[in-house]
Amino acid sequence: MAIERTFSMIKPDATKRNLTGAITKIFEDNGLRVVAAKRVWMSRRDAEGFYAVHKERPFFDELCEFMSSGPTVVQVLEGENAIARNREIMGATNPADAADGTIRKLYANSIGENSVHGSDAPETAAEEIRYWFAETEIVG
Ligand code: PPS
Repeated sequence: MAIERTFSMIKPDATKRNLTGAITKIFEDNGLRVVAAKRVWMSRRDAEGFYAVHKERPFFDELCEFMSSGPTVVQVLEGENAIARNREIMGATNPADAADGTIRKLYANSIGENSVHGSDAPETAAEEIRYWFAETEIVG
């Protein structure tokens, strides 16, 4: 199995409820290793750049407003099949559809305030990691 890196964010709804440790423990308990992490309060412009792929979608403004409303913890997670594994651990985008035991089932408030983000493919993982981290900040 391939060792991969994926990009993860613990979103403002979760940092506000002091869930950074609880969510990180779920990643670690499931075989993912935190090889980079920092707490950021992203600007509206950072959020718009990060989510540019969604700029035509009706929720774009709401999403960028929320993501710049408080602290986020950005991380690089490493492990076997990290991209797919992380998406399994997070559960479906909408917590109403998320499987039992997933982070979003446990903690998400809504489809927007859904506690975590994780890359969906190798190309987006590489791009998202580059958006937030310098190579020297990632220590495997
Ligand atoms: S996915 O997983 O990318 O297919 O999900 P998608 O439905 O395309 O949603 C992309 C991101 O937009 C957020 N989202 C919303 N925010 C606010 N309001 C509404 N209605 C809404 N719908 C979707 C969703 O949380 C996804 O965020 P990320 O950070 O990519 O998980």
